[in-house]
Parts: sequence; structure tokens; C-alpha cells
Amino acid sequence: MSNSAAVKAPVTGPKLPPNATRLPQTQQLDALLTIIRDKETPRSDFIFYSDRIIRLLVEEGLNHLPTLEKTVMTPTGLPYKGVSFQGRICGVSILRAGEAMEAGLRECCRSVRIGKILIQRDEETAQPKLFYAKLPEDIAERWVLLLDPMLATGGSALRAIEVLIQHGVKPERILFLNLIASPEGLDNMYRNFPQVRVISGWVDEKLDEKSYIIPGLGDYGDRYYSG
Ligand code: URA
Repeated sequence: MSNSAAVKAPVTGPKLPPNATRLPQTQQLDALLTIIRDKETPRSDFIFYSDRIIRLLVEEGLNHLPTLEKTVMTPTGLPYKGVSFQGRICGVSILRAGEAMEAGLRECCRSVRIGKILIQRDEETAQPKLFYAKLPEDIAERWVLLLDPMLATGGSALRAIEVLIQHGVKPERILFLNLIASPEGLDNMYRNFPQVRVISGWVDEKLDEKSYIIPGLGDYGDRYYSG
């Protein structure tokens, strides 16, 4: 019988590096992930339930932004002392799979600017190589939500972060959002960019010999775009 408590028993997983945050490990999140991990899940459901997790990731990312005190008048004629977001944001998706996270970001942040970076393996050097980058001109003044659904080895994300830094973005203003991370990828991110915050839905067991996350969900881009 399943445990009906809203929050699962503490997850005994790998200890996270200090720059990494995991979404609250609730039964609901686990149920959403179970649907998208299932190889029988049809493409339309994969998209729908991934989008729900992406919204949770974006909301968690927004929790890391600074705020300023702000007082408003409510319709009751009384003031409310609250806060407003300080600073502007943009999204940057790592193509191709990261593009699948753009809709979820737009649902939370209306008319958000979104840049794109394409990184592929250089066949000569076997290293991740930048093929294309289109970023907002004022990206150096913005907080950046970097989007890639699966943090496997971290090779593409590290290269993307180098590109962002070359464009003037401060590492501490980069929030890297992913649905599933590997412990190896998280360690790699922390060793190279300890100031970049990494926000993951779940941290899986490890990478296999082909650098797929296991148990994982297979190839995210294939499942999102081809079903
Ligand atoms: N990219 C994916 O889509 N899946 C993995 O398991 C690793 C990288």
C-alpha cells in the first residue's frame, strides 16, 4: 500500500554539492516523474507532465531571485507590506532538448526573453563545441535561467555557462534548471562553477557507459519531439 503522506520519507540519495538544490521530494513530484519515465507513456502525456515539472522548477528558480520591499494598497483601503522582484530575468535553452522547457518558462513568466545555444560534440576533439548562440543583447544585466532537461555529464551545460560568462553574465546570476540530474553531472558543475546554482527535480543513481542517466527516462529530446 502506498504511503499517503504528502512528503516522502527523506530520500537517501547522494549528498548534494552546496550549489545544488532538489525540488521538495513529494509524492506528487514522484508521480509526475513516474509518468514521464514510463516507456509506455505516449508523447502527448510526456509533454503535458514534463511541463508540469518544468513549472515547478521555474517557480523554485524564481525563489532564488532577490526581492525589494514593496507596499501596495488593497481594495479594503489598507496597505500591504510585501515584496517585488528585483532585477530582470531571461531564459537560455540549450538546443535541442532545452527548447522543450521554454513553454513552461513562458507560462510562469509572461513575455520573458529567451536565448538559445547549440552545442554539439566536436568529432575531431570529442569535446562539446559551440555551434550557435543567440542571446538577448542586455544579457549581462539579467539573471539567466539556463534550461536543459537532463544533467548527465554536464559537458554541454559547462560549455553553455562559459558562453554566458563570455557575454558578461555573472556566474552567481545563473540558475541551471533540469528535471533529472546525475551525481556525476552535479559534481562536475560544482567543481567548475561553484557559484552557478543548479536546481534539479530529482537526482538519479548514476550514468551508464553511454552517459545516459539511469534509471532516467531515455533520450528526452526524442521522447518530447518524436514520441
Ligand atoms: N540526455 C538525455 O536525454 N537523457 C539522458 O539520460 C542523458 C542525456
